Amino acid sequence: MTLDAVTDRPTEERSAESPTESGAWQPTPIKRRDLLVLNDVTKRYPNGREALRDVDLVVPEGDFVFLVGPSGAGKSTLMKLIIRDELATSGEVILDGEDLARLPRRKVPHVRRKIGTVFQDFKLLPTKTVRENVAFALEVTGTPRGRIGPAVARALRHVGLTQQAEQFPRQLSGGEQQRTAIARALVHDPRLVIADEPTGNLDPLISWEIIQLLLRINELGVTVLMATHDADVVTALRKRVVALEEGRIIRDELGGGYHRRG
Ligand SMILES: Nc1ncnc2c1ncn2[C@@H]1O[C@H](COP(=O)(O)OP(=O)(O)O)[C@@H](O)[C@H]1O
Ligand SMILES: [Mg+2]
Repeated sequence: MTLDAVTDRPTEERSAESPTESGAWQPTPIKRRDLLVLNDVTKRYPNGREALRDVDLVVPEGDFVFLVGPSGAGKSTLMKLIIRDELATSGEVILDGEDLARLPRRKVPHVRRKIGTVFQDFKLLPTKTVRENVAFALEVTGTPRGRIGPAVARALRHVGLTQQAEQFPRQLSGGEQQRTAIARALVHDPRLVIADEPTGNLDPLISWEIIQLLLRINELGVTVLMATHDADVVTALRKRVVALEEGRIIRDELGGGYHRRG
């Protein structure tokens, strides 16, 4: 299964080739650029609640990151800062080289199109079919009509929902609804997929399917940041784990489990 538009795009910057000791030319290791950088970020809501404190985080393009931590730790707030739903009170949030606090309003849609978002409650439009839900994401950004059909078909194929394209959300299982939401997130050909507890409403088997899908998307070069409470999944996959507690990053570990080691 391929997502042509995703694989076509160069997601990594390969540095110049260099000779080895034997004199043969070999590619030097790929230098991955940082897609997301948070510098000393604090977020205080108008009611005085400090949801994030002094957060530093660097996510290179191509990473798969689990964001874990108890309810209220600040996971959703961090994601809202990245999609510029909220602005940081202090510090910098830099997405693909752009400081979101300095971004002129007219450039916000351009930056948002680099991100696909997936939520626990799917957020599908109940009166639209699967195909229409996915197409709507392109219609609102003014994509030319002729490009919408093929892009939607490709996204639906990618999540395995071609057969269900004309069904309405209420006619789908929870897993299928979430796959529709993932197709919608992919249809823009994003650089980053943000998933905020995407398996929170799904049973364990279906949760695994959704995670496998996100892993495949990541293998195609799309960076994935996923907030979750699913300790078994996090521990089994040994990906990068960033743990938040009371708004602070208390752990950032490659190949980590859900809980701190030892
Ligand atoms: N819009 C808001 N206004 C005030 N406080 C908020 C708002 N959104 C979240 N909070 C508070 O910020 C803290 C972090 O919340 P959140 O980012 O939703 O955490 P998580 O996603 O880890 O459960 C919590 O104490 C929450 O009550
Ligand atoms: Mg949350």
